[in-house]
Formats: sequence, structure tokens, C-alpha cells
Amino acid sequence: MAIDSGEFRRVLGHFPTGVMVVTGAGPVGMAIGSFASVSLDPPLVLFCPGKGSGAWQAIQATGSFCANILGEHQQDVCATFASPVDDRFAGIDWSTDVTGSPVLPGCLGHIDCDIEAVLDGGDHDIVVGRVRSLSVNGDDRPLLFFKGGYGRYEEI
Ligand SMILES: Cc1cc2nc3c(=O)[nH]c(=O)nc-3n(C[C@H](O)[C@H](O)[C@H](O)COP(=O)(O)O)c2cc1C
Repeated sequence: MAIDSGEFRRVLGHFPTGVMVVTGAGPVGMAIGSFASVSLDPPLVLFCPGKGSGAWQAIQATGSFCANILGEHQQDVCATFASPVDDRFAGIDWSTDVTGSPVLPGCLGHIDCDIEAVLDGGDHDIVVGRVRSLSVNGDDRPLLFFKGGYGRYEEI
């Protein structure tokens, strides 16, 4: 059965995700919802950037990345890192951990990785990262993305 792309997006949009900004030395970065924890031993995570993404190509060239977990007050940061602005890092006082990839201020935490493998995922790549360093950096609530819009986490 052929899958309609609009229907694919609509149905998959019913699965909520958190939002990361994945960065690389440069600095370069992009908003990512397709992030997941993979393995504890060895410590592996993954994300799926579009094969045509210029940010991803620049990150791949560095061999490392840092995944920054966005908080509910960082909708503007998410929008910046998903849009074609000249300098996504303008006005951001970023730092680095071990890989040299930018650690963004005001995030819930970051996961600093070397690129372990890049697998074929159709029109996206599946990037497996080996965790080199990670920390919790704040106690904000996470920014969530659901049905094409932003939301916040609520305990039940
Ligand atoms: C909430 C959210 C989640 C996103 N998740 C992804 C993703 O998982 N993979 C991807 O390739 N793009 C994702 N994007 C889109 C990229 O951030 C966007 O295409 C960005 O412009 C890519 O940077 P580039 O054009 O400089 O390569 C997401 C955007 C938003 C707002």
C-alpha cells in the first residue's frame, strides 16, 4: 500500500517528542525531535537528521555532536535552530564540554558524543553517538512537540 506523505506526517505527529538542539563545533546546530537513548553499555544515543541538511553535513564533518535538551521556556531557541537565519548562535553565550561542540545555556541537560555510526534511514540518516560526557544543567520542565505545535509536560 502506498503511504500518503500528508497522512504519514499527521499520524506520526500524534507521537509526542521532546526537543533537542544538536550542535557541532563551528558552531553549527539544528533542532531535532528524533532523539532517543539506545544503549547503556556501551552508552549510545541516536538522532535522525535529513540527508539534505547543511547543519548535519557540517556536524558530521567534525566527528562529534552535543545534544542539548530544551526546556519549556526555549521555544524561541527551537524556532531559531529550525529556521534559515544567518547566525543561529547570535546572542547565545555557549560553552563546551569534551568534544568542543556547543553546550547551550538554559537547557535541562546535555549529552556530548562522538559519532559512532551513520546508518541509512531513507531520506534521513540514523546517527548513533557514543556518549563521552553528559550532565543535568537545570530543573526546568521540557519543551514538547505534538501535532505540529509546542506544549508542556504536566504530571498526572
Ligand atoms: C520540533 C522540531 C523537531 C525537528 N526534528 C528534526 C529531526 O528530527 N530531523 C531533521 O532532520 N530535522 C528536524 N527538524 C527540522 C530542522 O531543525 C530544520 O530543518 C533545520 O532548518 C535544519 O537545519 P539546516 O537547514 O541548517 O540543515 C525539526 C524542527 C522542529 C521545529
